[in-house]
Amino acid sequence: MTNETKQDRVLIFDTTLRDGEQSPGATMSHNEKLEIATLLDEMGVDIIEAGFPIASEGDFQAVSEIAKLSKNAVICGLARANYKDIDRCWEAVKGAARPRIHTFIGTSPQHRAIPNLTMDAMADRIHETVSHARNLCDNVQWSPMDAIRTEHDYLCRTVEIAIKAGATTINIPDTVGYTTPRESADIIKMLLERVPGADEIVFATHCHNDLGMATANALAAVDAGARQIECTINGLGERAGNTALEEVVMAMKVRGDIMPYHTEIDTTKIMNLSRRVSQVSGFAVQYNKAIVGKNAFAHESGIHQDGMLKSADTFEIMRPQDIGLSGTSLPLGKHSGRAALRAKLGEMGYELGDNQLKDVFVRFKELADRKKEVYDEDLTALMRDSGAGE
Ligand code: KIV
Ligand code: ZN
Repeated sequence: MTNETKQDRVLIFDTTLRDGEQSPGATMSHNEKLEIATLLDEMGVDIIEAGFPIASEGDFQAVSEIAKLSKNAVICGLARANYKDIDRCWEAVKGAARPRIHTFIGTSPQHRAIPNLTMDAMADRIHETVSHARNLCDNVQWSPMDAIRTEHDYLCRTVEIAIKAGATTINIPDTVGYTTPRESADIIKMLLERVPGADEIVFATHCHNDLGMATANALAAVDAGARQIECTINGLGERAGNTALEEVVMAMKVRGDIMPYHTEIDTTKIMNLSRRVSQVSGFAVQYNKAIVGKNAFAHESGIHQDGMLKSADTFEIMRPQDIGLSGTSLPLGKHSGRAALRAKLGEMGYELGDNQLKDVFVRFKELADRKKEVYDEDLTALMRDSGAGE
């Protein structure tokens, strides 16, 4: 691990094409996957998890092509803890300039019950499979799936085995979105303190959003020493989704005063990626979604619009331009005030005196009571009918 990674550089690992695509109904076509991977690469994502090569021929083909076309990012494929998965994954990623194999096994009591392995047998399996992956590729990530619900002693034991077998990144997944910020931080701290060799590798955090805490949990893990965040565009992913890339990246940018970390993400590309992922996955972005929702930079109430017209920092903590929007929006509705109406009409070329504005404002309020949003065409009609501005 370089000094930079150790101190303040946080690696962004995007799994929109793997965990994101596992969202029921979010399947993307081959060409759509290549397009999203290209956009992620151009945006400065450090690692792209391009798919699960053993899952299908289509996934294998997509990962292989993304591996060849990626210019900057490390290209990673997912593999369960068996030789067949790992070999198939290597076949898919090996064409990349910087390939990575990500192998995992469920270590919690709930997940150990499925392959019916004893703790010792699972420990042996981890050693064999991580060693095998490392013989193929010098960049290996290992995940104890459901790490958060794994007994702490066993978690430390398995992480130590994976590091000794050659894992270069250890990912700590909150597979079922069960953790809280304090626990997420405590687990990373515990691993750093208790596991020999922990300071030689990168710890990653991989959170799901079942309790709505994925962003907070990921950032708490970073505060405790994790230096890779696993996330997806728009928070796409299984059930309630994964940590949203745009949220963690913008949180670190906006609150650099208390989170002194940096990423290589060109944040001005966020909005375009959000729209494309929404289009190709068929998953609409909720209007009030942090950062990329339609209303994230929109202000309708009179007090807010008046404040925004005087100074943007009254109600905005980041600039819309920083995520690639052209500006703030002040939609006109029944909560809007005179200042916003005057500003909007001014933009449309109508300069009104105070009395005219008073009259138009009454008509505007009547209209706004009937319509959710008042558009430019409505205002043109209102000005024409009122005879004002002529
Ligand atoms: O949520 C999870 O545990 C995963 C693993 C495969 C890393 O997605
Ligand atoms: Zn996951």
